[in-house]
Amino acid sequence: MQRYLDRFEALLGPTPVKAITLDVLGRERTIHLKLEGHNLTGSIKARTAYGLVRGLVQDGKVKRGVELLESTSGNLGVALASMTRSLGIGFTAVVDPLSTQESRDRMKSLGARVVMVDTADATGAYLLSRIEKVQELLAADDRYVWVNQYESPRNPEIHRRLTGPEILDQMQTVPDAVFIAVSTGGTFAGVSRCFRERGLDTRMVAVDINGSVAYGGTPGPRHLSGIGASRRSSFLEPSLVDHYSYVSAGEAALYCRRILRETGTHLGASSGAVVAACVRFLEEHPGVTDPLCVCADGGEKYQDTVYNDGWLAAIGETPLPAGASGTVGTGNAR
Ligand SMILES: Cc1ncc(COP(=O)(O)O)c(C=O)c1O
Repeated sequence: MQRYLDRFEALLGPTPVKAITLDVLGRERTIHLKLEGHNLTGSIKARTAYGLVRGLVQDGKVKRGVELLESTSGNLGVALASMTRSLGIGFTAVVDPLSTQESRDRMKSLGARVVMVDTADATGAYLLSRIEKVQELLAADDRYVWVNQYESPRNPEIHRRLTGPEILDQMQTVPDAVFIAVSTGGTFAGVSRCFRERGLDTRMVAVDINGSVAYGGTPGPRHLSGIGASRRSSFLEPSLVDHYSYVSAGEAALYCRRILRETGTHLGASSGAVVAACVRFLEEHPGVTDPLCVCADGGEKYQDTVYNDGWLAAIGETPLPAGASGTVGTGNAR
């Protein structure tokens, strides 16, 4: 087991960082994109899965006959399905209709059992219903071990130990602002802690979707997978957050399309949100020269959502004008 985990860690990253330029209010601005779609299993969640599973192995919880159990928007489930298959143990993923068909198919093809929850929770999304289903399964069968990405300290820790240092090692200058999408908040909290521990004055910007309560506030409808949460993050301590930015699904879609059109880079939905927040920040901070956006996954899975006009219309969002500069709305930012 240990040998497999060491091999997995050696293959995690480094993912490429690509510098693009965008016209922001008539001025060419550079943005560095860290492309986690190139990571093992296609997303940043390979790192999270590795940290969580390694922790469970250290705790003696991964043994023959157990079945790992997790609530997932898709990417973590694909990574866990890949790892559990190699470790020879079972895996059950609790998903909801916002997860992409592609992620569900991949989990199944890797041998996972996929349980769909289709009742929305009180916030209008599904995360709380997914967690209820996890509790129900745990009570019914003691073979289950809940990975619990929402509360395990191994989630932020792996990003503090791996993702943060990797960014600093591969950038020629320390980024002066870093933008990271939030769901559990684990990626953001870990990277921010790494930067804080090194005494860097990089502005750490958490990027969320309208309607999410990951950092408090009032819940509202959400339509994208991977970004946002129906419950407060256990990891987003205010001391780690310099700025908290809210983006709409329309803005995320605008930037996914703009980046594809202008740079040929195919980003996933949460990455479009992150770039939208970055552009807004650049409009307000003319002195920022080296911003870095952590792009959690690639665009392949999102052809039917952010890249699809019919989907946007169905959720009541109009695609914002093509080629618009950095002029995005302010969402429900506080
Ligand atoms: C595409 C995508 N972006 C962002 C995130 C947010 O990551 P975290 O849970 O570490 O906040 C996730 C998590 O599932 C994701 O799948």
